[in-house]
Amino acid sequence: MSSDGFVPLSWEELSNSEMEKRALDLFNNMNNRRTTRHFSSRSVPKELIEKAIMCGSTAPSGAHLQPWTFVAVSNQELKAKMRDAAEIEERKTYSQRMPEAWQEVLQPLGTDAVKEHMTDAPWIVVLFRQSKRVRGNGETGPTYYSTESCGIAAGMFIHAIHNMGLVTLTHTPSPMGFLREILQRPAHEHAMLVLPVGYPAVDAMVPDISRKSLEEVSVFFE
Ligand SMILES: Cc1cc2nc3c(=O)[nH]c(=O)nc-3n(C[C@H](O)[C@H](O)[C@H](O)COP(=O)(O)O)c2cc1C
Repeated sequence: MSSDGFVPLSWEELSNSEMEKRALDLFNNMNNRRTTRHFSSRSVPKELIEKAIMCGSTAPSGAHLQPWTFVAVSNQELKAKMRDAAEIEERKTYSQRMPEAWQEVLQPLGTDAVKEHMTDAPWIVVLFRQSKRVRGNGETGPTYYSTESCGIAAGMFIHAIHNMGLVTLTHTPSPMGFLREILQRPAHEHAMLVLPVGYPAVDAMVPDISRKSLEEVSVFFE
């Protein structure tokens, strides 16, 4: 096999005890993450948002197309515009579009159509999924598994924010078409998630919920 275009894998073997320690440390860190809906307006340096985006962008992606654009907004006017448009959609969702089965599972979270986090948080990061790409010959081609790829990138971004001591909320003000227009993105980019990022408000509260056990979320065949 030709080695053109390949480099040796950078990999270091760890002892079993080191692997166990790292696995547990990471779990404890991740298990402390909570979706936060009450933000302080305290500012967050742009460099931290850039680092989190770089973490998100390390995600594996279908055919390595990295089919995502993270649009980070700290401009207050633009955030207010996004909030107004999101609340118009959310009011329709909560009052007309939301079936009873959905209301049932949202009830413990205490969410409603008021989205103050969109103007309180110092940064709003909108993750756009790219459904097409420009090929070497200038033609347009599809991307592959862009939803899966962007989901993984979002998870890594969320973890990076948590790991640096900030909080975020995974917000989906559906339908999200208004974000393409406000943020001037091309037609092949589709807003997927709205992620306010910042410090929690001093009196921030979170729903008292628990996570499923290992047994509930996994099946092993040995
Ligand atoms: C794809 C997705 C969409 C979500 N949409 C919303 C949303 O629109 N509004 C909201 O307040 N929370 C939203 N959430 C946050 C969930 O409600 C939250 O992750 C869940 O209640 C578990 O809480 P935890 O993140 O603190 O563990 C969303 C989460 C995901 C993954």
